[in-house]
Amino acid sequence: MVLMYIIEDATVGDIPRIKDLLTFAWRDAYSDVLSPETIDKITNVWHNQELFRNQIEDPSSFFVVARDDSGDIIGLATAVEVDENTCRLARHYVRPDFQRIGIGEGLVKAALKHFPKATKLQVEVMEKNQKGCAFCLKTGFKEVKRVSESIGNDIVATIIMEKDING
Ligand SMILES: CC(C)(COP(=O)(O)OP(=O)(O)OC[C@H]1O[C@@H](n2cnc3c(N)ncnc32)[C@H](O)[C@@H]1OP(=O)(O)O)[C@@H](O)C(=O)NCCC(=O)NCCS
Repeated sequence: MVLMYIIEDATVGDIPRIKDLLTFAWRDAYSDVLSPETIDKITNVWHNQELFRNQIEDPSSFFVVARDDSGDIIGLATAVEVDENTCRLARHYVRPDFQRIGIGEGLVKAALKHFPKATKLQVEVMEKNQKGCAFCLKTGFKEVKRVSESIGNDIVATIIMEKDING
């Protein structure tokens, strides 16, 4: 598929569509991993509009969306600084019908541009998230450790991965 898209800072006006994308993406990505109750709780409680507003309005935060040529949001990413050398991808989603055309990699490149001093990019992926694990391993991340996380009502095995930037 040939598609024109742009990656740019999210705006407060994008919040309803960001919430829609995350609700859809969470169901698509995690229905085999998390209980329906947990997915409902996360999409209703974690993904709340006030939290998104604070993150979008914080000038130090990284919160971008990918838009297709009609302006629809087809992907998003957020990232935070962990320490002066390390940043962490916190959210990283591409709408299922737009996956495998490079948008995921484009979002990672945008995050690295936002943290020019970082030498390492970190991500935490659920072990059973096959798409997420495949993306990370194919794009240069390496497993650092495995941990158990409490997400909503579930305990989930996750993998912390890191990628050397400039390496
Ligand atoms: C992970 C995710 C963001 C990747 O987005 P994407 O736009 O499809 O990624 P890209 O097109 O940039 O993929 C880059 C490379 O990663 C690998 N890859 C990506 N998705 C893959 C999949 N489902 N299966 C196998 N390899 C995959 C491929 O090597 C791909 O290159 P190729 O298509 O030329 O072979 C997307 O699958 C998603 O939204 N997943 C659910 C959320 C998630 O897992 N987030 C955490 C990821 S860190």
